[in-house]
Amino acid sequence: MASKKGRVFSGARPTGRQHLGNYLGAIKNYVALQDDYECIYCIVDIHALTTVETTEDLVDNTYDMALDWLAAGIRPEETIMFVQSHVPEVMELHTILSMVTPLGKLTDLPTFKEKVRLQPNNVNYGLVGYPVLMTADIALYKTDVVPVGVDQGPHIEFAREIVRSFNYRYHTNVLVEPQMKNTEIPKVLGIDGKEKMGKSNNNHIELAATPEETRQRVMQMVTDPARIKRTDPGNPDVCNVFTMHKIFSPADEVAMINVECRRAGIGCVECKKRFAANLNANLEPFRQKRAALAENPAQVWDILHEGAGRARTIARQTMAEVREAVGLPK
Ligand code: TRP
Repeated sequence: MASKKGRVFSGARPTGRQHLGNYLGAIKNYVALQDDYECIYCIVDIHALTTVETTEDLVDNTYDMALDWLAAGIRPEETIMFVQSHVPEVMELHTILSMVTPLGKLTDLPTFKEKVRLQPNNVNYGLVGYPVLMTADIALYKTDVVPVGVDQGPHIEFAREIVRSFNYRYHTNVLVEPQMKNTEIPKVLGIDGKEKMGKSNNNHIELAATPEETRQRVMQMVTDPARIKRTDPGNPDVCNVFTMHKIFSPADEVAMINVECRRAGIGCVECKKRFAANLNANLEPFRQKRAALAENPAQVWDILHEGAGRARTIARQTMAEVREAVGLPK
């Protein structure tokens, strides 16, 4: 790996089938980073336990997410892709790091306060320690770079502090202070054109949807709200469909829409039909690969297990160094 720039780690909760927002906000970057970094991508099922009401979908959600990652271009021959709980050392490191983490800082984090607001009847201990477990994820693999969206910025900053505290307290440098790499493109809005695209809002477009389902979802997309009649001129600058065209459509078509929308030369229905067609064309290779992988689910699990094996080799080495640094009896 000497030719690579360092090690990348990122994690995502098992949310099942991925949507365009997941793709543009995270997966696309995960794929691209493989060219320059040694990458480790983790499906964080333990983190999911802090918020899920039931675990009955956990296995399916893990599988579906892994399938989408692979179909989107994660290369398991080089990249380590695994399930968090398959490397239990992370929970051991979490406990050790919790001793150098000030409680007040954890309860002050805006992300924690938000969770308390969202689930006032389930403010569990794990929720408080969420960022410590994240730090354990990152530190266990001596991660150099963590690609995340801005919402995770405070967590990465906190991870750096925890690592610094650990190294300071135990007079060591076994843990690596990670750098954050903000990989977020402008917020990907959902069908409603207002909120961030997400499953919980049901305003998302799944990558694995059929072309016809995709077309139907696209046709529901909200465009420039000020454009009411077909003859009204539109404003592409405030239209989520146009934003998506800029990502998925050929440049000449984008230029045409930019002109024609403003003078009511093209209507929203045609504009969306064009977007649906271009999106479907873009997703075709993904869908083919996904279908091929889905023929053999055992192989997807093999990839995850094999990834966990490789991850665990690194984890065990780090934990040996951590125990030694802390001064735990041999
Ligand atoms: N907290 C992240 C999220 O909610 C997921 C996550 C867990 C993560 N561990 C991580 C992200 C380590 C980056 C690095 O999206």
